[in-house]
Amino acid sequence: MTGTIGVLTGGGDCPGLNAAIRAVVRSGIKQGYTVTGIRNGWLGLIENNTVPLTDRSVSGIVSRGGTILGTSRTDPVAYPEGVTKIRRVMESQGIASLVVIGGDGTLGAAHEISSLGIPLVCIPKTIDNDILGTDRSIGFDTAVSIVTESLDRLHTTAESHHRIMVVEVMGRSAGWIALAAGIAGGADAILVPEVRVSMDRLCQSLKARYDAGKRFSIVVVAEGTRHEDIAGTIVPLCDRDECGHEKFVGIGNVLGKELEKRLEIETRVTVLGHVQRGGSPTAFDRILATRLGIAAIDRIHNGEFGCMVGVQGNRIVSVPLESIVHRPKGIDTEDYIRAGIAAGWTDGSDT
Ligand code: F6P
Repeated sequence: MTGTIGVLTGGGDCPGLNAAIRAVVRSGIKQGYTVTGIRNGWLGLIENNTVPLTDRSVSGIVSRGGTILGTSRTDPVAYPEGVTKIRRVMESQGIASLVVIGGDGTLGAAHEISSLGIPLVCIPKTIDNDILGTDRSIGFDTAVSIVTESLDRLHTTAESHHRIMVVEVMGRSAGWIALAAGIAGGADAILVPEVRVSMDRLCQSLKARYDAGKRFSIVVVAEGTRHEDIAGTIVPLCDRDECGHEKFVGIGNVLGKELEKRLEIETRVTVLGHVQRGGSPTAFDRILATRLGIAAIDRIHNGEFGCMVGVQGNRIVSVPLESIVHRPKGIDTEDYIRAGIAAGWTDGSDT
């Protein structure tokens, strides 16, 4: 197969997207294709907003965060006549197949579009790391590094002021960032959406630290955590974005207030927010994105569509979209419990 390949990035941005675009373009050109960039996710394909991509135009972007193509959360299936418009634009531009770089929302739309006969291959990206079929998604490693560095910084100020520092991190339905960065940053407690930890147990363990002379604590909480014994009521008080995703507004603050009230220890809350998605990707993310970009072109070249390329162990694999979409991948709860037992916030029985 030769012709033109369209490439788009959809959903929330993350570091490593440009490295993936660069690999798709360079590998595509080497295999005899021309590559067209589609701006702002599915919206660009609906609105015919595209840009030719050459070897030259992707020069120097491997280290840049964000996406040179722009992104959006537009759902092409819900968009009026979205699929018809996509077909029309692909035909007029001579785009024979697509590389779709996205998280669960984008991949879900890709699956529907693929089942309507549009040839495409997906690449997983999200700092949340909650996509099935791949051990890692692009952006996760960078987010973990940013959060780990933040925890190191918060440690010194927590210790100086004898405070509890509650750190809210991203993770809509899975606690991958909280768990990985919490372990790497030596957190004293980690709270995630997947596993319930009782507020009593958490307070006991933080109090024990104080009683033993450690007069500060770092508590990491994933934004999607909403256990009623932590918050007193079910959290979050949330709004929704244009795709119906929850916009979280506050488990960190709710938890911080509750800890301060119960323990009578001065507490501060840091919400890391979009800092976790910004800036330059780590070497790991650049390499992963490059490998996945090359693999996506190989799949297109072999006529293998309706799949996502991913990494399992150290092997690049491809999995059918139908087996992975709309089923968020949760953390390894055994790892979580072990980390909890080591740090003392759980004895394993209340999780
Ligand atoms: O899906 C990745 C993610 O970073 C989530 O962790 C977070 O809840 C969400 O995106 C925030 O999205 P937005 O960019 O729309 O604020």
